[in-house]
Amino acid sequence: MAEFKEISPNASAGAKLTNWFENRFPTMFDAYRVHMSEYYAPKNFNFWYIFGSLALLVLVIQIVTGIFLVMHYKPDAALAFGSVEYIMRDVPWGWLIRYMHSTGASAFFIVVYLHMFRGLLYGSYRKPRELVWIFGCAIFLALMAEAFMGYLLPWGQMSYWGAQVIVNLFSAIPFVGPDLALLIRGDYVVGDATLNRFFSFHVIAVPLVLLGLVVAHLLALHDVGSNNPDGIEIKGPKAPKDAKGHPLDGIPFHPYYTVHDILGVCLFLMAFTAVIFFAPEAGGYFLEYNNFIPADPLVTPAHIAPVWYFTPFYSMLRAITTEMVYALIACVVLGALVGVVKGRMPAIFKGAIMAAAAVVVALMLSIDAKFWGVVVMGGAVIILFFLPWLDCSPVKSIRYRPSWHKYVYAVFVVNFIILAYLGVQAPSPIGERVSQVGTLLYFGFFLLMPWWSSLGEPKPVPDRVTFAAH
Ligand code: HEM
Repeated sequence: MAEFKEISPNASAGAKLTNWFENRFPTMFDAYRVHMSEYYAPKNFNFWYIFGSLALLVLVIQIVTGIFLVMHYKPDAALAFGSVEYIMRDVPWGWLIRYMHSTGASAFFIVVYLHMFRGLLYGSYRKPRELVWIFGCAIFLALMAEAFMGYLLPWGQMSYWGAQVIVNLFSAIPFVGPDLALLIRGDYVVGDATLNRFFSFHVIAVPLVLLGLVVAHLLALHDVGSNNPDGIEIKGPKAPKDAKGHPLDGIPFHPYYTVHDILGVCLFLMAFTAVIFFAPEAGGYFLEYNNFIPADPLVTPAHIAPVWYFTPFYSMLRAITTEMVYALIACVVLGALVGVVKGRMPAIFKGAIMAAAAVVVALMLSIDAKFWGVVVMGGAVIILFFLPWLDCSPVKSIRYRPSWHKYVYAVFVVNFIILAYLGVQAPSPIGERVSQVGTLLYFGFFLLMPWWSSLGEPKPVPDRVTFAAH
């Protein structure tokens, strides 16, 4: 048992109460110190560093509004659509809770995409933060599953047909595909069984996983310490420290960054409420118009598109036509040849590379393009997990990389936005071609990173973080 902390009989009532709790629950007070008042974060955090806290805020908003929605929502194919209309029209403040939840879903992805981009800019995924990044990628996957299953619940036309299209993709997997799709649906078509299991996953299973991953993400981060816009370690053995061993370039998270983050929260809430009150459908991007029509298994909408946050990946799925598979085969052959010619390795490894490439090409020729579309779409998310080992730059932050690296990142971002745009549009020959080039650029960015990230002369990295008081 921890030693009891004595307190002066003249102390204030508040201090006595705190002391009473601290003596009975020291773990909580230690956690507060380790993660807040004595967590030293670099003093040069900028605007990009508010999105982690905002993601936490949106997570809380989604859970709280979700709890209230479940009080009136009916997970039954015959009642679901009507129960959402009931929430919107008859439940007191139901419209607000529902719009907070639906806008929260899009806000979550906006905040998380910006949060991930910050990691990319400052090399926050590099040693020693690989696990922080990996937990982040797992959060992103869980978030996608959560959003996908939640979207079925209003049981509108887009809910129904979107789920139909995506679950059918699983049936393209050789051998196990059709049974897997059946297992996910619980029926031969999307129906009541699908709605019930998606409800159960959306309301309890995935949120639990998500919460566990977020805790792991933050604990791992606080074990190794935060990165910063300079990509300089403030807690390493060489970093300057004061007499108490605190980093000279760090400031306690509380109160400095709690205040900083409250400013971010205020700005975020202004934008969030503006959308909720003035444009909750966001022109059909946050809530699709077709989803205000009840699900009808007999009427397929002319154009089925997922919500905006899935569209870059959806574009990559649609880009994989039979013709595109030939282009991918050419990439595999080229990659294997470059590996064999340029790589310094024993002949046996070179032989293995050629054999593996031959097997992949044979598979690509014999399995339908639809399957490779699924592989590419899944691969576009999975490749993020490997980022810490793909980046070979001698410096972490974009600030000290060769200037032209900025253009590479700019092309990546613009390409991602173009893919997102094309994913909302109806298919067209031009759109197909552009999304095929976009898919190659997306994968090229990551797969060629070991090569391009090590090119060019990095700028000198200072010993201390750069900081100007403002
Ligand atoms: C529910 C979603 C998420 C929440 C609540 C969350 C929360 C946070 C918080 C509070 C921080 C510390 C503050 C900050 O650096 O901004 C952080 C840092 C970080 N997060 Fe997340 N995060 C989420 C998703 C992700 C995702 C999807 C990724 C990447 C795939 C990611 C990667 C990182 C990295 C690399 C850091 C360290 C940044 C640095 O030290 O420079 N996070 N996260």
